[in-house]
Amino acid sequence: MENLNHSDIEDFKFEPVTTVAHSNIALIKYWGKRSVQMNLPAVGSISLTLDALHTQTTLQFDESLDQDVFSLNEKEFGGKELKRISDFLDLGAATKDRPKARINSRNNFPTGAGLASSASGFAALALAVNDRLGLNLNDESLSAFARMGSGSAARSIYGGFAEMKLGSKEDGSEDIAVQLYGESHWDIRLLVVVTSTEKKKLGSTEGMNRTAQSAPYYKEWISSQSSDLDEMRNAISAKDFEKVGELTEHSCFKMHGLAMSARPPILYWNAATTETIHKVWKLRQSGIPAYVTIDAGPQVKILCLPDSVDEIKKAVFEVDDVEHIIEAKPGPAAKIVTPENEIIA
Ligand code: DP6
Repeated sequence: MENLNHSDIEDFKFEPVTTVAHSNIALIKYWGKRSVQMNLPAVGSISLTLDALHTQTTLQFDESLDQDVFSLNEKEFGGKELKRISDFLDLGAATKDRPKARINSRNNFPTGAGLASSASGFAALALAVNDRLGLNLNDESLSAFARMGSGSAARSIYGGFAEMKLGSKEDGSEDIAVQLYGESHWDIRLLVVVTSTEKKKLGSTEGMNRTAQSAPYYKEWISSQSSDLDEMRNAISAKDFEKVGELTEHSCFKMHGLAMSARPPILYWNAATTETIHKVWKLRQSGIPAYVTIDAGPQVKILCLPDSVDEIKKAVFEVDDVEHIIEAKPGPAAKIVTPENEIIA
């Protein structure tokens, strides 16, 4: 990547570093890549970073290792999970010929909860690599680095509301995320309704690639994104909750409608997902401002205001198969945590 410098062995710091990054939810969705190899998104996106969900990662380079060792929630991973991490470290070091590392990550939410962790995971790892390799990347370059691990990770570098920009250059130097507003801009809530704890069947990378190759409305998806982004930026700035909610639902259903039109079709929802959507719409009809959004899985995320949280939770718990609901507020930026104030999930 052009904005990462080649690291010499003397640039490596061999003591461990620990970082924390929070997950984010896209209000205007990213779906599709204009370059698979560089992981360049085909559309810009806008997100909210969440305080309640985070990944904590400790990275230590160790010259005695002959391969990287990656564990998530105390379980060691090989295969394609390890390769994705090793490739990312190679990218940071700008060489495959580098000291190997131990990477211990912990999510404060159960991995089996069916919640994506690549956003918080790669943001935490990007920050750790930047620190241990002395890359001195500013936030925008750090977001571009995190994006190479996972597109949504670029936005988790920031707290509050962030926008992933759509670049036009082939080298990806314009495909960075920026902060729109910090976490204190607006006290809103996001309820994560867990409808299934099964591992997801089709990951977002495969899902979006299949969509790009076969969905008949893919061009329209791309061409209609910039006006959604403009409207969302304005609505967040004006703290217009109804408008933010309406745009959030629109982007979600546009993305899922598009994915459903792929061949073979992609349907991430289960029966409880659909039932929860209807529950939220019913609540809205009764005057409670609440809006849904869904990612590449069956969980429903409900955007709402603090004073309706209890009522919404009560109604949604009536849906069969809803076992738990995580309540999140706007969360902070990714950061380095010293061992003394280490966050333990
Ligand atoms: C539906 O960031 O997981 O959550 O770049 O291939 O790793 P890769 O994809 P990823 O996709 C996220 C898709 C989404 C929408 C979003 O977060 O914008």
